[in-house]
Amino acid sequence: MLSKLRPKIVSILHSNAEVSLRLQQLCDLLQESIPYYDWVGFYFRNGNKEELKLGPYAGAPTDHTIIPFGKGICGQVALSNENFVVPDVQAQDNYIACSINVKAEIVVPLFVNGENIGQIDIDSNTPDPFTHEDENFLEFVNKEVAKIL
Ligand code: SME
Repeated sequence: MLSKLRPKIVSILHSNAEVSLRLQQLCDLLQESIPYYDWVGFYFRNGNKEELKLGPYAGAPTDHTIIPFGKGICGQVALSNENFVVPDVQAQDNYIACSINVKAEIVVPLFVNGENIGQIDIDSNTPDPFTHEDENFLEFVNKEVAKIL
């Protein structure tokens, strides 16, 4: 099901629109097409600071527009350079809650020339919905995004 979206993703990312608009359309596509992707967004390293800044996203607005490295799932991925799959957010000590409805989260780092410059973050209101297929799919998404940054 996820791989069916790949051609659409490639075509969105290679349009003539501004990069931020393309990323917005990508977030909208994923959030609308995948029933258990309730919030989809990008965080990017904020200049030279040790913090992430919220980029384009689809879903409910969040207060967490700046996340220091090390804080929450996102801040941990900024340091670990590894995918982080959280089947149950309530079982995490170092977690930043955005909405009481969120049950699970996946964060996949985004590399440009080998450097971790940000990440895609998905929140789900469904418990334990993410599999290796989601990891592979989101790695594909980030590789495609890296090509236009
Ligand atoms: N839950 C994230 C914070 C970002 S929101 O999900 C949009 C975290 O723990 O880092």
